[in-house]
Amino acid sequence: MATPERFLLAAVMGWPIFQSRSPVLHNFWFAQHRLAGSYVPLAIPPERLEAALRALPALNFAGCNLTIPLKQAAMNIVDEVDVTAKKIGAISCVVVRKDGSLSGFNNDWYGFTHNILEFEPDWRADAGPAVVIGAGGGARAVLYGLLERGAREIRLCNRTAARAETLAGEFGAAVRAVAWEQRHDALDGATMLVNTTSQGMIGQPPLDLSLDRLPQTALVNDIVYIPKETPLLAAARKRGNRIVTGLGMLLHQGVPAWKAWFGIEPKVTAELRARIEATL
Ligand SMILES: NC(=O)c1ccc[n+]([C@@H]2O[C@H](COP(=O)([O-])OP(=O)(O)OC[C@H]3O[C@@H](n4cnc5c(N)ncnc54)[C@H](OP(=O)(O)O)[C@@H]3O)[C@@H](O)[C@H]2O)c1
Repeated sequence: MATPERFLLAAVMGWPIFQSRSPVLHNFWFAQHRLAGSYVPLAIPPERLEAALRALPALNFAGCNLTIPLKQAAMNIVDEVDVTAKKIGAISCVVVRKDGSLSGFNNDWYGFTHNILEFEPDWRADAGPAVVIGAGGGARAVLYGLLERGAREIRLCNRTAARAETLAGEFGAAVRAVAWEQRHDALDGATMLVNTTSQGMIGQPPLDLSLDRLPQTALVNDIVYIPKETPLLAAARKRGNRIVTGLGMLLHQGVPAWKAWFGIEPKVTAELRARIEATL
């Protein structure tokens, strides 16, 4: 094993933390690059987040990832929030700078778009209307990613209408809020469908959405990745739609984090994917 100048350290902070697959992901990359380092899960309640983040420089951590609900709370703690994280309204990654100050980034949108591109290299977000179901933290990153790739029409549908309307207002004219009751019809003519709700996740009921109106040519993505293939993806695949599973969003968002923390660009490989899928 190579001897780096220092033991490389990064963490994921969450509350609760038990479901995070991030330690498996990052520790795989440490081993693959033959680096002395470790990525640890830290259960941090929101009221301790500031103290925990401020301790990172003294503990020699290069940075950390954050999970819900800490992603929003960190916005008011770090010394600088980059422009993309501001637009998305959440920090997924904190970088400890040389002077010990903290900067906040959001790499979830990058994970979303690069996961799609890994499976569908010719994917174009401007090919036609996209339907996004859900308006939580994940949806914010997905909307940013779609717009960054040139999407011109996004139909945003959420159980709580006010949340979809707020997001549509924030993200501009290309995003239009659609009433929850109209979610089935909203699929008419869509070229892409993305589920960002927690429905379909293990322990949750499947997303209540009829795919009858969805063109067979549409691409379907679910950002839920436990189980690997959600009931929505299984139904879409069965009727002939192309699908992209959600795990890759988690894997790909780790790439820019590593670049910022350690100056290394790790790869998302089939071996890495298999390693994490084995834990799902
Ligand atoms: N693959 C990845 O890297 C990645 C990244 C981020 C998130 N995720 C996954 O995405 C899912 C959502 O995460 P999040 O952070 O966006 O959560 P969140 O901010 O809590 O948002 C949850 C969303 O689910 C909707 N929802 C909850 N229960 C519902 C129900 N019974 N019927 C319809 N809609 C319902 C909520 O609608 P209301 O507004 O009406 O409550 C809201 O839109 C989670 O499963 C998470 O693991 C994956």
